[in-house]
Amino acid sequence: MSKVLIIVGSRREGNSFNLANKLKEELKKDRIISKIITPGNQKIYLCTGCMDCDENGACDFKDDMEDNIKKVLESDALIFITPTRWNTLSGDLKIFMDRLNPLYTKGSLKDKKMISIAIASKGKEEYSSDGAIYALSSFADSAKMKVVLTRQFNNCLDATDILEKEDEIKELASDIKKKISC
Ligand SMILES: Cc1cc2nc3c(=O)[nH]c(=O)nc-3n(C[C@H](O)[C@H](O)[C@H](O)COP(=O)(O)O)c2cc1C
Repeated sequence: MSKVLIIVGSRREGNSFNLANKLKEELKKDRIISKIITPGNQKIYLCTGCMDCDENGACDFKDDMEDNIKKVLESDALIFITPTRWNTLSGDLKIFMDRLNPLYTKGSLKDKKMISIAIASKGKEEYSSDGAIYALSSFADSAKMKVVLTRQFNNCLDATDILEKEDEIKELASDIKKKISC
C-alpha cells in the first residue's frame, strides 16, 4: 500500500493547508495513507552549507527535520504544495529542501515519486506560477526523483478560495491515485 507525505509550503491555514486536507480525505477513500507536515510551523534551522552531511550522511542540527526525514524515507510519494511567492516556491519549502541534502548525498531520494502543486492568487494569463513549478521540478531533477504530476491552481487569494474548486480537487486526487499506484 502506498504511503504519501504531503508537504505544505504555507504557515497559515490557507489554500495550501486546505488543499492538503482535502487530498488526504480523498486518498483515504482508497485506503492510501497520507501524513501532512507544515515545515514553516516547525523548528527547522537554516542550512549553513557546512557540508558535514556529505561526510556523515546526517545533519549536525537536532530539530524537527530528524522526524521529517524519517517520514520522507518511509513515503513512496511526496506531494509538495506551495503558495506561489514572486512566481517561485515559498521560502519555507526552500529551507525544507536544503535540509534534505543528507538524503540527496546518500541517494535516498532517487526514484521517489514527486507531485508538485502551486497555488496562485491571480489568473494564469495575469501572473504565472510556472516559476514555482519549475523550482520544485529542479529540486526533483537534482535529487533524481520522478515528477509524476504537476498542477497549478489559479485565482486563490483568500484562505478558503481553493475550497470552491471542488471539481478540480477531485480530479487532482484521482490523477494522484493513478500516478502513485502505477
Ligand atoms: C510574498 C507573497 C508573494 C506572492 N506572490 C505571488 C505571485 O507571484 N503570484 C501569485 O499569483 N500570487 C502571489 N501571492 C499570493 C499567494 O500565492 C496566494 O494568496 C496563495 O493562495 C497563498 O497560499 P496560502 O493560502 O496557502 O497561504 C503572493 C503572496 C505573498 C504573501
